[in-house]
Amino acid sequence: MWRAFFVTLILALTPHAILSAKTRKVEVLYEWKQVVYGFATEEDRQDAIDNDNLVPENATPIDVAVDYHSKKGKRVFTTTPRFTTGIPYTLALVTDKTEENGPVLLPYPDYSWHNSNGSNCEKITSVYRVAITECNQMILVDTGVIDDVQHCPPQLLVFDLNTDTLSHRYVFDPSIYIDVASLFITPIAIVNDPPPKGSCSKVKVYVADVNFHGLVIYDSELDAAWRIENRFMYPDPDYGLFSIADEKFFLMDGIFGLASDGEQLYFHPLSTIYEYAVPLSVINNRTIFEEDVEAVPLAFRRVGERSSPCAAQAMDSQNNLYFVTFNPIKLTRWSPKKPYTPKNELDIPADPQLIEFVSGMKVHKNKAGIEELWMTSNRFQKISRDTLDFNEVNFRLLRRPLDDIQKVSSSNNSHRESGSSSNKSHSESGSSSDESSSESGSSSDESQSESGSSSDESHSD
Ligand SMILES: *[C@@H]1O[C@H](CO)[C@@H](O)[C@H](O)[C@H]1NC(C)=O
Ligand SMILES: *[C@@H]1O[C@H](CO)[C@@H](O)[C@H](O)[C@H]1NC(C)=O
Ligand SMILES: *[C@@H]1O[C@H](CO)[C@@H](O)[C@H](O)[C@H]1NC(C)=O
Ligand SMILES: *[C@@H]1O[C@H](CO)[C@@H](O)[C@H](O)[C@H]1NC(C)=O
Repeated sequence: MWRAFFVTLILALTPHAILSAKTRKVEVLYEWKQVVYGFATEEDRQDAIDNDNLVPENATPIDVAVDYHSKKGKRVFTTTPRFTTGIPYTLALVTDKTEENGPVLLPYPDYSWHNSNGSNCEKITSVYRVAITECNQMILVDTGVIDDVQHCPPQLLVFDLNTDTLSHRYVFDPSIYIDVASLFITPIAIVNDPPPKGSCSKVKVYVADVNFHGLVIYDSELDAAWRIENRFMYPDPDYGLFSIADEKFFLMDGIFGLASDGEQLYFHPLSTIYEYAVPLSVINNRTIFEEDVEAVPLAFRRVGERSSPCAAQAMDSQNNLYFVTFNPIKLTRWSPKKPYTPKNELDIPADPQLIEFVSGMKVHKNKAGIEELWMTSNRFQKISRDTLDFNEVNFRLLRRPLDDIQKVSSSNNSHRESGSSSNKSHSESGSSSDESSSESGSSSDESQSESGSSSDESHSD
């Protein structure tokens, strides 16, 4: 009895003790040579095969999201959009069962939900990214597109993670998107009445339209959406040629990565080195954009410049902005207290081989109240150039706890100098243990780039 008590006590205390002792590492939690699609039943597998929809070599994991707080226990999700056919399901749960090519996926919520050939728009057609809120909701945006065919209108679906049932569906009106031209790839959600006090009825979802260069705002109170366009959402041709780990490829993607500190929406196109922002108070006001999607152009500002482009980004509760630059490949943070410049990119040590093209990034607070950075890397340069080798590890889900970094930030909180104050509607970080960490998170000792020797042009297209 007492023994059990002490064991429990030690287990409860150990993580903190170990974790605060040294700088945290980027951990690989799941890795694949090729995506492994599992099925709940043999009938489901056979259905996928019969419909030519089980072609794992066509699949690319794009996003990651973690359910830490629902009644179902911890669950990790990923997405495999239908860039092409052969994808049996587009939203998946990652299981701990592993086969030769990697961990086995299972369809979420179940196989019957997945519209494998575009014939049923009540189902899920293709998902790039999802958002999980502190209300135990999964918010997903379905593009409705398979292989460049707009089978269904894009829609926003809300699943209750406690019950794995649909709690809301919003189908976007034709005024919000352009058939085939639009591609709704990134949602972030802000809950304005979070638990325990709030009732989760005031949620806004911000959605990037990467291909037709717009931002869509969905307001759950109005159950309405509106569209906004601005020149900063376009790709810059000067940054349309990328080099990642010595492989070059072209990609002209517009608005891609989103983040918010509760006051501003931060965003960047993929094909750029700049970060932009617009006040939420402006874009949340539907009236302003009713007549003109390009209204108030001067409310949008350039707020930063990177050393090189990046794909996904995420912000923690202390307004640190995280991203992985392409060349050199670096996991990086911008502090809210310093101007967003290349000089102020604070390197977070990480093996560059693990983080080639981070297409999905989230900050999730774990059960112990520690915020963690989660990432999906998928070597998109190899997909783009068709050089994927399925004998190598190509896709990874990674985690990096942030408490060491946040201690450094908070020990300096009294000297805030920048204009971006932290007025967050998100839940505060559980800044538990107070002892000052012995090592700062921003040392860059082990982050030498492996891709130093890339000066000769070798693009094939
Ligand atoms: C589409 O897929 C469904 C479910 O797998 C199947 O029943 C149906 O026959 C398919 N339709 C076409 C046109 O392939
Ligand atoms: C929204 O914008 C309109 C038009 O500029 C303005 O009249 C109105 O006061 C704004 N509403 C809010 C809640 O700020
Ligand atoms: C705190 O901020 C000051 C000024 O920005 C900086 O010089 C100092 O290194 C910071 N201290 C820590 C512990 O980060
Ligand atoms: C935080 O938000 C509240 C409500 O929106 C506002 O009244 C307050 O002035 C804000 N505080 C700061 C520091 O911006």
